[in-house]
Amino acid sequence: MSHSHAHVHAAQSGFDEHAAETLAWSDAMLLGHAPMDDAHEEFVVVVRALAACNVATALGCLQAVEDHLLAHFGTEREWMERTEFPAMECHLDEHQKVLDTVLEVNQLAKAGEVGLRDVHRLAAALADWFPKHATYLDSALSAWINKRMHGGAPVILRRDLGTSAFQEELAA
Ligand SMILES: [Fe+2]
Ligand SMILES: [Fe+2]
Repeated sequence: MSHSHAHVHAAQSGFDEHAAETLAWSDAMLLGHAPMDDAHEEFVVVVRALAACNVATALGCLQAVEDHLLAHFGTEREWMERTEFPAMECHLDEHQKVLDTVLEVNQLAKAGEVGLRDVHRLAAALADWFPKHATYLDSALSAWINKRMHGGAPVILRRDLGTSAFQEELAA
């Protein structure tokens, strides 16, 4: 049991323990792709609920975060695959690390092996992680999707036609 605890803490090391207290949805967090913005607003809702949970609601809040992340990350992966997003691997790696931590804490919580403090630490770790991820990785994906949807043809052609077409375009 102590081994499990150590592992959970290691996965969440080096974050702002008070991050959940200041996590709030605002227009400043909009990235311009509406379905992604909706998912991000939901992220804020479920993580805030997790940060505010008590012993009676902790398991339900953990499950809500897990369900949310599976859908949120699954949808982003679909978008990346469909639009051939270039930085896909790095983005998906980060999702997987976060998901692994949530799955682990949820599993341990169901077995009664983590306390409320650990659950609240997880909420803080998620709240600390999210703005950075959204700013650096999700914003790039949102811009990429919008480019592909509205006049993004040059980007698509460039990738599909290969190096010589890319050089022609540069020369033009
Ligand atoms: Fe996201
Ligand atoms: Fe993401």
